Amino acid sequence: MRDILPPEAGRFEQLVAVFAEIVESAGYGRLNTPLIEDYGVFVRIGDATDVVSKEMYDFTDHGDRHVALRPEVTASACRAFAQHRPTPPWKVFYSGPNFRHEKAQRGRYRQFEQVGVEVLGVDDPLLDVEVIALAWEFYAALGLRQVDLIVNSLGEPADRARYVAALKEYFTAAGDALSAASRATLVTNPLRVLDSKRPEDQSLIAAAPSIADFYDEGASAHFAAVCAGLDAIGVPYRVEPKLVRGLDYYRRTIFEFQGGTFDSAQNALGGGGRYDGLVEDLGGPATPGVGFALGVDRTVLACDDEGVFAATPRQLDAFVVDVVDGTHALALTTELRRAGLAVDRAFDGRSMKAQMKLANRSNARHAVIVGPDEVATDTVQLKPLFGGDQRTVPRGEIAAQLRKSTSS
Ligand code: HAM
Repeated sequence: MRDILPPEAGRFEQLVAVFAEIVESAGYGRLNTPLIEDYGVFVRIGDATDVVSKEMYDFTDHGDRHVALRPEVTASACRAFAQHRPTPPWKVFYSGPNFRHEKAQRGRYRQFEQVGVEVLGVDDPLLDVEVIALAWEFYAALGLRQVDLIVNSLGEPADRARYVAALKEYFTAAGDALSAASRATLVTNPLRVLDSKRPEDQSLIAAAPSIADFYDEGASAHFAAVCAGLDAIGVPYRVEPKLVRGLDYYRRTIFEFQGGTFDSAQNALGGGGRYDGLVEDLGGPATPGVGFALGVDRTVLACDDEGVFAATPRQLDAFVVDVVDGTHALALTTELRRAGLAVDRAFDGRSMKAQMKLANRSNARHAVIVGPDEVATDTVQLKPLFGGDQRTVPRGEIAAQLRKSTSS
């Protein structure tokens, strides 16, 4: 797990704010769920997935309950829906940390942040389109260009079950031609073999049966409507029949956003899909669901790689330099902050030179300087730090002067 220092942490916040603006404008309300939940909630993600079987931070709490740090938010959102029974359609968004005990490397961390949306209670394929388009607009708003959208459908549960059986037969027949690691995956989760990045598995995967041959009519029509909707609004995508996801609750539509500047093992900037049975599994009524989560840490890396969405620390209006005794800076910063201005100051009775150095480093627009002469005449010196002449300003007018120069 890692520290994120200023100004980088502020950049994470700004990115979340861009996301919130986009989804709130589309009618989504913020949902906050606990970081710790009953272990059983997360088991619904799929006990054959790495996320549940290997990566969960679970423990027994003081009340002897088996709990875990959340590895994602979808299961919690469905648990919250089953518990509070809000009127569907329920359109929510979230942001915050998740925890997975993974091998840490660039773009893969044990504590990472996600932003995401979930919608419960709507079966319409045009909702899948809306959800995908929101993520697409978010990447566009950040200025990212190297993002590919990959879509697929896993069909109805019965289609998926027939497909899994066919895959199992196919890969079993391949025998030792399949890597040892994938042979192990084949026993627990045959679909995930398609996700193997090992070179020796690639030709076998390419020739494997395709899910597209297993859809019933309903699943086919649903997926065709999703693709037609994306076409209609000009969101470019690629259908990839071998796309699978790392979590087990998906049915029908799944999708992933891949970043062009990453190694293929970590290139998923975000992903999601439909999970129509999950609310029911968590004790609620049968409820369709669709959503996505986008990795904030990875998205920030993608922004670095593409040179967009720079960290912009808050611009200060003024830095107060008090060369008398520091109490004038106390009064001035308090007064100016109460007037709504962004103001910092120096401490520890530093020299004029040292305080001016801090003022310059603070990136403030002005230094407001108080010395014995200013105290005697009830004035301050207003010095623009990005060019312009220093001038004397009556003490009582300083807030108005600063506000005027900020707005000009
Ligand atoms: P996920 O694919 O497991 O899906 O995670 C979504 C995104 O979170 C990934 O694409 C990646 O950007 C980021 N992420 C995942 N693990 C890590 C990690 N260890 N370090 C850094 N970033 C990571 C879900 O979590 C589903 N809940 C998405 C969803 C919502 N499906 C339906 N609704």
